[in-house]
Amino acid sequence: MILDTIDFEVVQRETSKLPEIDFDNIPFGKVFADHMLCATYENGKWGNTQILPFGDIQMSPATSMIHYGQSIFEGLKAFRTEDGQIAVFRPEENWKRMNKSAKRLCMPGVPKEIFIEGMKRLIDLDRGWVPTKEESSLYIRPFLFATDAMLGVKPSQSYMFMIILAPVGPYYSKPLHLKIETKYTRAAMGGVGAVKAAGNYASALYPAQLAAEEGIDQLIWTDGKEHKYLEEAGTMNMMVVINKTLITPPLTSTILPGITRASFLELAREEGYNVEERPITVDEVIGACKNGSLEELFGVGTAATIAQVDKLTHEDQTFQLPQISSREISNTIGTKLVNIKQGRVEDPRQWNTHI
Ligand code: COI
Repeated sequence: MILDTIDFEVVQRETSKLPEIDFDNIPFGKVFADHMLCATYENGKWGNTQILPFGDIQMSPATSMIHYGQSIFEGLKAFRTEDGQIAVFRPEENWKRMNKSAKRLCMPGVPKEIFIEGMKRLIDLDRGWVPTKEESSLYIRPFLFATDAMLGVKPSQSYMFMIILAPVGPYYSKPLHLKIETKYTRAAMGGVGAVKAAGNYASALYPAQLAAEEGIDQLIWTDGKEHKYLEEAGTMNMMVVINKTLITPPLTSTILPGITRASFLELAREEGYNVEERPITVDEVIGACKNGSLEELFGVGTAATIAQVDKLTHEDQTFQLPQISSREISNTIGTKLVNIKQGRVEDPRQWNTHI
């Protein structure tokens, strides 16, 4: 059901680009649906909420977001369920997290009517863009950025909130080779690692590029102080199974509270697996690789869902990890999660919002 609590101006595209899209071949994040949502914050108020044809936006070269990085985003997905409906996975969690990110970056929160109702209307208008193919979905990218044209270093007074939509296939096409990063840092205690600040992703690019030059797909980030504890894997939360126990780092100021992470842990506990949210040291994981007690290593995130890791490099050692087909917890819970998202099984927690 779409509520009508806010005035949305809707300008529809004259001709849809949908017939041009090859849904069997969609690169992640390069193809966009016909429409986008925009809302502005000025003089302490949200307004000007519009759904427009997807297109370029105009900005002053002095726009403060460009210079000082007041920019945050979210990522969530809509799925085509087996009965042909559209289900969005846990959108309220993304709305809440966006507003936590906004607070940390001194930005105004986005009202629920704009974030949730706007998103529903946008998807409803572009419903033909939700792929039907297994492992495909409509990636929803809400984002908020500062729009004051000024070079003073202070919080902007004006902002723009937007949502764009991209039909996507799987984020990773094969299991990953990860390396434990012990020089560069993704996030420091007290910083912005626990929120979805655009700058977190920018600062990860250079170390990831160095790793890619060595044939490594992504990095496992370690703590900024001692590089002793594991934190995240690439742009995902990370999980490890050692001696039948699922272990993931606890939510501190350096770890993003992933919605896939939370959902996975809830289902794993319900299924009766041992779950520990506690610090994991590099030594523990490397020791487990050596003595054969490391059973599974994988990343969890919205874009990737479950990304299996089959090789792990630490300093000059590379370990081949157990076969993907032998991984009980990630395979069982991963399948359960996908089945819920695609409406194949009951959804007792009402994680899906239908459109
Ligand atoms: C997501 O999983 O939504 C992410 O944040 C990854 C994205 C940067 C591609």
